[in-house]
Amino acid sequence: MNQLFDIKTNILFGQDAIEQLDTIGMKKVILVTDASMVKFGLTRPIEKALEKRKIPFQIFDKVLPDPSLDIVLEGMAQVIDYKPDTLIALGGGSSIDSAKAMVYFDLKMQAKILGDGNLQKKTLIAIPTTSGTGSEVTCYSVITDRKNNRKIPLMDTIMVPDYAILDAGFTKTLPPKVIADSGMDVLTHAMEAYVSPKGTAFSRAMARESIILVRDHLKKMFHDASVDLHREKMHLASCLGGLAFEKSSLGLNHGMAHSLGAHFHLAHGRCNAILLPYIIKFNAGFSGFATEDPEVIRKYAEIAELFGYMDGSDQDKVRGLISTIEQYNEEMGIPKTISQAGVDKETFRSQLSSLVVTALNDGCTPGNPVKVKMEDVIKIYLNAYA
Ligand SMILES: [Fe+2]
Repeated sequence: MNQLFDIKTNILFGQDAIEQLDTIGMKKVILVTDASMVKFGLTRPIEKALEKRKIPFQIFDKVLPDPSLDIVLEGMAQVIDYKPDTLIALGGGSSIDSAKAMVYFDLKMQAKILGDGNLQKKTLIAIPTTSGTGSEVTCYSVITDRKNNRKIPLMDTIMVPDYAILDAGFTKTLPPKVIADSGMDVLTHAMEAYVSPKGTAFSRAMARESIILVRDHLKKMFHDASVDLHREKMHLASCLGGLAFEKSSLGLNHGMAHSLGAHFHLAHGRCNAILLPYIIKFNAGFSGFATEDPEVIRKYAEIAELFGYMDGSDQDKVRGLISTIEQYNEEMGIPKTISQAGVDKETFRSQLSSLVVTALNDGCTPGNPVKVKMEDVIKIYLNAYA
């Protein structure tokens, strides 16, 4: 089978990477961000760079967490009115996803009006301010349709950012809770990509490096975010994790975490972190699950070896990996169970069937290396709740 591995995004990184914004050609810009970025001055380096080059720009700062279709359409109205050739997205996954959706809808609208000829895609520059989503290099965007209470997952290569600027100066003020949740999201991306049946030598190399960087820097960044080295390395880990899953797939962990987060309004990374030990137990055929697959166990064992588990059988190594993940969660104050995360028993029980159906229908779930049945998802949620 012929295969292709290409990276569409130009990745600009290193200390003070934001200075490389000067090397990107652009004529007119809308900066897509949220109000807190403006308030705390994080937009200033970009504004200064554009002012220095006399590039006209406007700011759209109405992005909120879980960006809604309404916000994207409001941004689109500004795009239509101002006619920029470039969008710069500054923020976490929400700002980057919003700008991606604007690029997507803009191109669809042009196609409707002009047909297929003369379409002009806006240049998209993504500047992440958390180390977590990897959205700066992926073709995915998730928009919320609040009127109909549903998520709109968009997937199209036209949304892959043209440039990603990885400047860890933007992550200096992240609170420890966000570092913990988003860091465990990175680890989940890399691990799901590593065991993905769609993985290749290239995607696994990126996932592996991402895992090594998380191993060496996440807890250190959590305990002291003032150290540049740890923030820089976690920014690289996040981007590498994004590249790895973009070129393979995510899996059941993300399918169940998306559903959990949507039902109980828990942070995405936190949901992944809580579920991760339980998902590995399922995929490895532990805890009474009869899904043992030596190839999958071997891949988890290879990850375990990165954490120092060199002795014993592959099963022994995977048990070690699970205990390491539990230790990471504990050290960073992440709850061990869904109940400890504050979901009361009555509410959980009453929403369990909806939780399970949503997880099974999630776009990430089919990417899991082990096929999953409804009773498996019920059991995993119940194990993770207790
Ligand atoms: Fe994620």
